[in-house]
Amino acid sequence: MRSLILLGLVCALSAPLAFARAIPNPAQSHAPGNEDVQTPIAQAGYSVGVNYQLQCAGCHLGDGTGSAANDTPRMKGFVGNFLKVPGGREFLVRVPGMSQSALNNAQLADLLNWLLREDGMAGSSMPADYQPYTSEEVMALRARTMLNLPGTRGELIKAMRAQGIAIDDGMNY
Ligand code: HEC
Repeated sequence: MRSLILLGLVCALSAPLAFARAIPNPAQSHAPGNEDVQTPIAQAGYSVGVNYQLQCAGCHLGDGTGSAANDTPRMKGFVGNFLKVPGGREFLVRVPGMSQSALNNAQLADLLNWLLREDGMAGSSMPADYQPYTSEEVMALRARTMLNLPGTRGELIKAMRAQGIAIDDGMNY
């Protein structure tokens, strides 16, 4: 019994030392050939498609199919419907995946205009009178946090239903 208590004490005392070993070595250096500091994506100048792959496709998948299991709606063939209801245009910028991405305002505007094309992800869901987003518009909208996302989205979906739009967002509700 005594030796067990002693063992427990030794374990408790040595635990911080074991954890301390997980702290990165401050003298650590880059792997050879990898010395340059990474360029932030907002300054990297990648194409729109690459920005989508890096910042969005992890959740929305490469073609915008999304994943109901992960609560990620389908954008493919559907996302343009948000532009047909009041508040939808703002919503598309204010969702966290957009507003909190590492992309700058101009990149986000380009990305949205790229998604919202009839020959792109939005496909036939696009309204006829689409006005492209500008970086100024994106800057103003992304700064306004959306407090009740599911509620806001629910209202927009309801407004779509009222217009007779089929809710083909893959979310099954
Ligand atoms: C961490 C996962 C994740 C990432 C990364 C992500 N999104 Fe999303 N996105 C979601 C989810 C989940 C929703 C549903 C609304 C919500 O809960 O935010 C959504 C909603 C949206 C919507 C509104 C469509 C709808 O039907 O509600 C758009 C537009 C959108 N995302 C675009 C993007 C773009 C563009 C990027 C990349 C810059 C991005 N998202 C990155 C998970 C993500």
